[in-house]
Amino acid sequence: MPYITVVLNQKGGIGKSTLVVQLASVYAEILANGDTEEPSVMVVSIDPQGTSIEWAEQIERHGRKVPFKVLDASGNLDNLKRLRRAKADIVLVDTPGFLPLNKDKESIDPLGDGSVGDALRAILDVADDVIVPLEPDSPGFTPTKVTIEKVIQPRGLPYGIVITNWDARDGRADLESTQSMIRKRGWNLYNTVVRHFRLHARALGEGLVCTQYPSNHTATKAKQDFYALGFEHQLRRKQHQATETV
Ligand SMILES: Nc1ncnc2c1ncn2[C@@H]1O[C@H](COP(=O)(O)OP(=O)(O)OP(=O)(O)O)[C@@H](O)[C@H]1O
Ligand SMILES: [Mg+2]
Repeated sequence: MPYITVVLNQKGGIGKSTLVVQLASVYAEILANGDTEEPSVMVVSIDPQGTSIEWAEQIERHGRKVPFKVLDASGNLDNLKRLRRAKADIVLVDTPGFLPLNKDKESIDPLGDGSVGDALRAILDVADDVIVPLEPDSPGFTPTKVTIEKVIQPRGLPYGIVITNWDARDGRADLESTQSMIRKRGWNLYNTVVRHFRLHARALGEGLVCTQYPSNHTATKAKQDFYALGFEHQLRRKQHQATETV
């Protein structure tokens, strides 16, 4: 049975697709079992914009092998309900940002009644955990609060915020104030921070994932964050499982 991780934040453009595709690549490399075996990692997109699907197409267009399976499940709820039976060890789900509803409805269900809301509800029903990307000092704070307090926590799903796209050249002040604000609110925070690298920003256009980056110093630093994130994600998974069985 696959372990299903949903990458979710109400805010758009906050690094969800990047995190899904890069983390999937790292897991695929670690779990690879020779060239002939089918990949045991799957990327599922429920985003009508289909960034992760386009990314996989770009990898192929550039003559490279897509290291994970890809499923475009936007508009296909049945596929999502069957995901628990998918032949994969790890499934990472790329989601769209979602629009807040009018105030009355928002207090009941901020995911909305449209097809995006239906897909998000269906995927959260089968999810094992959620990763919430957040950029330091971003205007994404209110959407992040909605995502955590109105969507994730009421479902009892384990989750963690991952600070993404942090530009080390900006200094640590923004990073540290974001981290302390998250801790003050009692939200779960990953220790791993995904730094900003131009390599990541260009990867989709160049049809590359981080495990295919050239072996130079910058590329090694850039991909290191996703290996660290994968490591922390799996250790947290162990912790969730341990608390579930207590
Ligand atoms: N660590 C990073 N380093 C450099 N650029 C990054 C990094 N993370 C994300 N980006 C860039 O930020 C932009 C938004 O990222 P991405 O598309 O992953 O966000 P998203 O949350 O999936 O957006 P959407 O809501 O539109 O689906 C992209 O141009 C991406 O290349
Ligand atoms: Mg996206």
